[in-house]
Amino acid sequence: MAAQVHYRTDGDVAVLTIDNPPVNAASHAVRSGIVDGLHRANGDASVNAIVLIGGGRTFIAGADIREFGQTLPPPHFPDVIDALEGSAKPVVAALHGTALGGGLEFALACHYRVALAGTKLGLPEVNLGLLPGAGGTQRLPRIVGPSKALEMILSGKPLGADEALKLGLVQQVTGQDLSAAAVAFARARAATGGPHPRARDLTDKVRGVDRALFAQVREQNARKWAGRIAELRIVECVEAACFKPTFDEGSAVERDLFVELRNSPQSKALRYAFFAEREAAKIPGLPDDLKPRSISSAAVIGAGTMGGGIAMCFANAGIPVQILDASQPALDAGMARVRDNYATSVARGSMPQARADAALELITTATRYEDIGHADVVVEAVFEDLAVKHEVFRTLDRVMKPGALLASNTSTLDVDAIASATHRPQDVIGTHFFSPANVMKLQENVRGEATSPETIARAMQLAKTIGKVPVLAGNCHGFIGNRILYVYGRECDFLLEEGATPWQIDRALQGFGFPMGLYLMRDLAGLDVGWRVRKGREAARDKSLRYSPVADRICELGRFGQKTGAGYYRYEGRKATPDPEIEKLIESVAAELGVTRRAVTDEEIVTRVLTSMANEGARILGEGIAIRASDIDVTYLYGYGFPRHQGGPMFWAEQQGLDRVLETVKRYEAEQGVLWAPAPLLVERAKAGKGWAA
Ligand code: CAA
Repeated sequence: MAAQVHYRTDGDVAVLTIDNPPVNAASHAVRSGIVDGLHRANGDASVNAIVLIGGGRTFIAGADIREFGQTLPPPHFPDVIDALEGSAKPVVAALHGTALGGGLEFALACHYRVALAGTKLGLPEVNLGLLPGAGGTQRLPRIVGPSKALEMILSGKPLGADEALKLGLVQQVTGQDLSAAAVAFARARAATGGPHPRARDLTDKVRGVDRALFAQVREQNARKWAGRIAELRIVECVEAACFKPTFDEGSAVERDLFVELRNSPQSKALRYAFFAEREAAKIPGLPDDLKPRSISSAAVIGAGTMGGGIAMCFANAGIPVQILDASQPALDAGMARVRDNYATSVARGSMPQARADAALELITTATRYEDIGHADVVVEAVFEDLAVKHEVFRTLDRVMKPGALLASNTSTLDVDAIASATHRPQDVIGTHFFSPANVMKLQENVRGEATSPETIARAMQLAKTIGKVPVLAGNCHGFIGNRILYVYGRECDFLLEEGATPWQIDRALQGFGFPMGLYLMRDLAGLDVGWRVRKGREAARDKSLRYSPVADRICELGRFGQKTGAGYYRYEGRKATPDPEIEKLIESVAAELGVTRRAVTDEEIVTRVLTSMANEGARILGEGIAIRASDIDVTYLYGYGFPRHQGGPMFWAEQQGLDRVLETVKRYEAEQGVLWAPAPLLVERAKAGKGWAA
């Protein structure tokens, strides 16, 4: 038998234990081991029942995603499913940790399921652009009904063991020794004699279903699913479970659609994103034995929108946090905003009242720096101005206990310059959060020249503790995220002058999959902040380079975006309407600059935006500001709404072929000039004929 599945007997029950750390993914070796184990148990007259259980921290967490795309010999998933379901002796799946994807599908093919309290059961394939392709779309509706099955498979969210018990997904939940409970359960069922239930034979819940259910689901989600295919195929499969005359005919539909998805570029992008996120947490060069000290108390400087949002992240993770601001009225206003945010989450049903109350209890306020000196970490979230930040860090240096993590939520400024205000630059790091900080998942950590390995490891771990996805960036203006945003924003502004409108650019970007176009995003964030920054840097701006004054002109009209009722768009509440006045303004700027306006296509917009992102990304990678290309993608997926099923700007470029991307960059360089100079790394990698990896 394969080494990844151990066989033992406990009296008359055979126990197959999967041993494929860390998550017992159902690799080829695991599949072989299960099939062999079932064969052996069925051939042993002293065995009356079989238990399938995971060793270590979990049951099977799904197919081994790394095997997709490889051609492997049998047994394949359907072979294991057939062996489980066809076993003459009853098979009990003993679940703990996470029973996900193909793992849960194996369990559904077993005759019975017993779970340890706290187990999570789910079919998260949709997150990888897939559908549960091992019978999940056919068996789950037969057990829980099509409506609940659609909810589970389309959301990809797992259920707890208690809910699974209520739904009949498991037959027993135990708080005790899982293996002993499953063996006892199996023995008792074997004693009752067969036949043992098979989910495929259930018909009650999938007959007489109203077809309108499926039309409704498609219609309700049409906007959300625009451009994505996995969701649509999942609905087709569950519909097949209800309307195909036999289980096998429904399964055939599932098989075909699974293969289609597995081979789709969308699933490739989503699988890439899954691993990219995990890779980003790994920092080469840190000592292996480095165990960063944990963080159990926090302080945030500044009670503004960002400060409040960051404080909520700590509180949500159970870490007591103080918000410090100079004045009580500022703190009161900040706390009122935090309370409002929690009330909104409760009203939306995304957080139970008790959790919101518990989190709020953990947030306290202070006006004196001396009162926060004991905190393990302090995150500065004051106005984006170096002089102000210097002042704050000088004070933090004075009051914070030795070894405290000193973090700045700067989005563009020089981390070394900030650290220079202290006598402990090794403890200083940038932790760039994204607005709204309590919602957006990215934490862009920025290491300075003197930042210590311990501080880096601590900031990376902190992100995990508070539920963020960390990326480590080097220190430069705008780091990874805003540096690229600046470049593609600039290209969009040029496109306005050349003939596009803000609403056309937004429509094109949304068509590609961004949830919100650039100009809607700018209007939402507020245009005044960028305007102030530009004015501050105006003297230093290289006047020989092309510059679009459109954004400045809009601000000069007092139009700062949604909050003033007008920006690029006109607003009634949150509803944006295209504004002919802005079109006129753009036309007059173009005339002034001597730019002839022409028809711009949506396709051109998308190509120009993505190519500029990839070229700047290559520059960032070449300079060592990002550790790897996929870190740039993770930054964009989690901080800037880049559509996950497109993988990220660097993945996009690799899929196009770097030589093709370079050709486009060169074409723009010829047309637009030096701002489009190809990044040296792009030239090098395109010539090598490989992807971004050296
Ligand atoms: N295949 C291969 N590797 C996997 C994996 C999988 N299904 N799931 C996790 N891993 C790897 C991770 O890449 C990571 O590797 P490194 O340590 O080298 O980075 C390691 O296992 C640990 O994973 P996490 O860091 O994510 O650990 P966690 O404790 O935070 O989370 C988890 C555990 C909830 C299981 C999470 O890993 C997860 O959600 N995994 C994916 C589950 C999934 O999508 N399953 C469906 C697969 S598709 C399928 O099953 C198709 C089908 O119908 C046949």
